[in-house]
Amino acid sequence: MHTISTKKDSVAPHEAAHPRVGPSVPPREPSASFFSTGRSGKRSSMQETQRLLERAVEAVGTGIVIADARRADYPILYCNPAFERLTGYSATEVMGRNCRFLQGPDTDPNTVRQIRAALEAGVECNAVLKNYRKDGTPFWNDLNLSPVRDAEGAVTHYIGVQTDVTAIRASEVEKARLLTDLERAADQQWEFLKDVLLTATEGRLRLCDTIADLPAPLDEFLLPIPLDEANLRTLRLRAEDAAVGQGVSEERWQDFVVAVGETGMNAVMHARNGTGEVRAGGGRVQVWVRDSGEGIPLHNIHRATLVRGYTTSGTMGYGFFLSLRMCDTLYLLTGPGGTTAVLEINAVPPPPPWVALL
Ligand SMILES: Cc1cc2nc3c(=O)[nH]c(=O)nc-3n(C[C@H](O)[C@H](O)[C@H](O)COP(=O)(O)O)c2cc1C
Repeated sequence: MHTISTKKDSVAPHEAAHPRVGPSVPPREPSASFFSTGRSGKRSSMQETQRLLERAVEAVGTGIVIADARRADYPILYCNPAFERLTGYSATEVMGRNCRFLQGPDTDPNTVRQIRAALEAGVECNAVLKNYRKDGTPFWNDLNLSPVRDAEGAVTHYIGVQTDVTAIRASEVEKARLLTDLERAADQQWEFLKDVLLTATEGRLRLCDTIADLPAPLDEFLLPIPLDEANLRTLRLRAEDAAVGQGVSEERWQDFVVAVGETGMNAVMHARNGTGEVRAGGGRVQVWVRDSGEGIPLHNIHRATLVRGYTTSGTMGYGFFLSLRMCDTLYLLTGPGGTTAVLEINAVPPPPPWVALL
């Protein structure tokens, strides 16, 4: 039987210079004695079951240790060969010691505290923590601790099962890193798309990230109307009235009304549940067209806005292509929750883009 020592741990694993014990740990005899009843002679079926259990624990690939819960500091009574292979310590070296010798500089003290609390409460506990082999190399230990109770319910032993999850952990860290890279690349792509479309439309198309990027709604307004093919005419007429009222020239409001009709039609064809709202004030008109359709996918936004005759629903109409050429500014907020397009026209036409170059 292994001798049980109450000797306190003193060797920090990362300081130890002994070579790691690999899979070639010499076969060992004594472990069987931990399980045996000590009685010889009759081979009862109970003894056979015990032998089977014993062989299973010896053969299993995960580390197993049994600690005495009745003695101070949970001294190890038994460890299986997989524990020896995992940690590099031999059974003889660990007998009687507390398992904390596996911890080192980067072991999370909070996790250790949780383990201590579970042991004090006599309950099961699971934790993943950084441990160190005898040669100092770190590994991630997925540790399960379960109490064993006697007939009176008192905890007599604790069984610890150690699984090396270093590789899984590394792939999770790598996955998280790749995901962050991917998100950053998508953000950069979106910013690039916004810049390109702003330039290609001479500053008219403003792709919005959030509601906050939409323009402040103008003060004078009529209640929104639900959009269907019949109501599109009402929306156009309201837009015309508002533009005339704000002093927009006839040539410009006529174009604007066409743009409003196209954008409204887009919502009708797309989502069939849009609303249209005309707002005005200070020599400016806004038409807000909202729908709760599935939005324009990112990879289609450049087509939906730049390509003549392209609509994401594959229907008639010019989509945003025409609208963009017939208003001063088109704000577009689109996503899975729907699309909001705001068309604006000013009584005073904006200066031509080449002015900015002077
Ligand atoms: C059966 C058993 C197995 C344990 N196995 C490990 C282990 O593999 N790695 C580890 O870091 N701690 C392990 N521990 C926990 C430590 O032995 C110790 O209980 C923990 O560090 C909390 O106590 P402390 O704050 O006094 O160190 C085990 C505890 C028991 C009872």
